[in-house]
Parts: sequence; structure tokens; C-alpha cells
Amino acid sequence: MQVATTIAEIRARVGQARAAGKTVGFVPTMGALHAGHVSLIQAAAERCGFVVVSLFVNPTQFGPGEDFEKYPRPFDQDLAICEEHGVDAVFAPSRTEMYPRDNLTWVTVEKVSKPLCGRSRPGHFRGVATVCAKLFNIVGADMAFFGQKDAQQVAVIQRMVADLNMPLEIVVCPTVREPDGLAMSSRNQYLGPQERIDATVIYRSLQRSAELIRQGETDAARIADQMRDVLRQAPALRVEYVNIVDAESLDDLRQVKGKVLVAVAGRLGSTRLIDNIVVDAATK
Ligand code: PAJ
Repeated sequence: MQVATTIAEIRARVGQARAAGKTVGFVPTMGALHAGHVSLIQAAAERCGFVVVSLFVNPTQFGPGEDFEKYPRPFDQDLAICEEHGVDAVFAPSRTEMYPRDNLTWVTVEKVSKPLCGRSRPGHFRGVATVCAKLFNIVGADMAFFGQKDAQQVAVIQRMVADLNMPLEIVVCPTVREPDGLAMSSRNQYLGPQERIDATVIYRSLQRSAELIRQGETDAARIADQMRDVLRQAPALRVEYVNIVDAESLDDLRQVKGKVLVAVAGRLGSTRLIDNIVVDAATK
């Protein structure tokens, strides 16, 4: 496995793979890899002859007072996980390699960046879209693999790629969960023992919504109310939002119809957790 820290190096590696006729798959990450990331690597390896993983904690997607400084950076462990899963090249640039000067050019995906997490994290999706545009330009992959766990990120990236005619395919992979349903996240390691138990109410509330929709409930407010009842089982959880939106446009829904995204965000202590499910109301 090759570890590239400069743009020139990773371009050279990918260039060689292309010259050998290989399809290039790309998994962008901020490191602290877990089974969710590994599932993306495996999906990439199934479809592509050359797999690139980036490890870069992107400063421009963190707001003031967020966890940029304390975000875990277990670099050697991440490299070992990549190696173990057959990654061909890791791109681990420094901050100055990615942002050598004051960034003046930003990618803003309007509308879909606004609801859900956009409300409490202004600028977050601008940072995500900008770094992904940069990484796509640097790596030059045929396909990039993203997790459904970050549903709004997927919507933002898909829209950016479509609107700007970026020549790559975005592949979305299912959310990987702990046995008790908690969505895997690099931030789960911030949770104390009681918080870790409390965190399970999030997925339980999502399951409740799926159950209600299957039973024919179409009133989004009633579904959200019932989800909040489940979430209250962990009084320490400070709920940020419980939203039922159209899975593609992210528009708020009063009546559940078609493919809907049910999304929850909340805080346990200082740890912010998000999760979602997509339910097809037509196939209930
Ligand atoms: P990060 O949080 O490291 O996640 C990298 C990728 O792994 C994302 O596509 C995310 O959705 C996916 N992922 C995380 N947890 C998952 C889980 N439990 N199941 C399936 N996939 C999961 O998302 C980012 O980094 C950054 O915003 C990035 C896109 C790298 C831009 O900086």
C-alpha cells in the first residue's frame, strides 16, 4: 500500500493505475476508521481495481467551538486498517497541502445545505462540498463511496456532482450499526458508559417511525411526536431535531409519501450524534 502525502504523489499513483487500465474508486474519510468506513472500502474494492482512501480532518467543515482539535487522529491504526482491507493508496495530506493559502473559492450547494444539520452547523456543508470538490479534482476517481449515515452530506455531494458535471459516480452504501443499533461513528468514542447506553434511543426512535409508516400512519407530526416519546427515555439526550423530509429534496413533509428520510440529531454531553433511515411509504 502506498501512502501519499502530497497532491503530486497521489496523482502519480492514480495515473499509473489508470495507465494499467484500472477503474479507480475513492473513499474520502476523516480517519478514526471503523466498520462503517471499512464497508465503503469493501464496496470500492468490489467495483474498482484500484482503491484510494483519504485521511484528512478537514478544518473548513468545523465551526468555531466544534471538535476539530479533539477529533481523534489514530493515524497508524488507520493505515493498518487500510492495509488489512487491501487499499491500494492512502492520501493523507497536511493542512497546508490542502489549503496552502487563504481559501477564496468555495462550493455552496444551496437549499439542500440549509435544513437538518445545516441549521445548527452553518458553513459545515460548504466546507464538506469544497473539500470533496478539491479531493475529487486531486484524485480523479471514477467512483466515490459515501455512507447513508450522513444522508444530508450525500444529498449535497450528489447535487454538487450533478450541477457541476463532475465526471464521477457517487455510490451510496448502507449505514453500519453496532449490534444494539447505534450507528457507527468516529464520535462514538467520546461517549461515557451511560451516554453510550442512552445513545441507543436514537435508532429505536427511527425504528418506531418505520413501524408507524408501515402501519399506514401518514401524518409527519404524529410520527415525530411518537419518536420524541422514545427519545425521552434518555432524558440526558438534548434533541436537536426530529425531521421527516423528502429523501431527495430534503423538503419538509406534512404527509408521508414516497421515499422519506427520517432524521434525528441530538447531543449527549458535548457529543453530537446523528442518524437516519429512509422509508418507502409506497411499499409499506
Ligand atoms: P467521516 O465522518 O470520516 O466519514 C467518511 C465516510 O464514511 C462518509 O461517507 C460517511 O458517511 C461514512 N460513514 C461514517 N459512518 C458510517 C456508518 N456507520 N456506516 C456507513 N458509512 C459510514 O464524512 C466525512 O468523514 C467527511 O465529511 C468527508 C466526506 C471525508 C469530507 O471531509
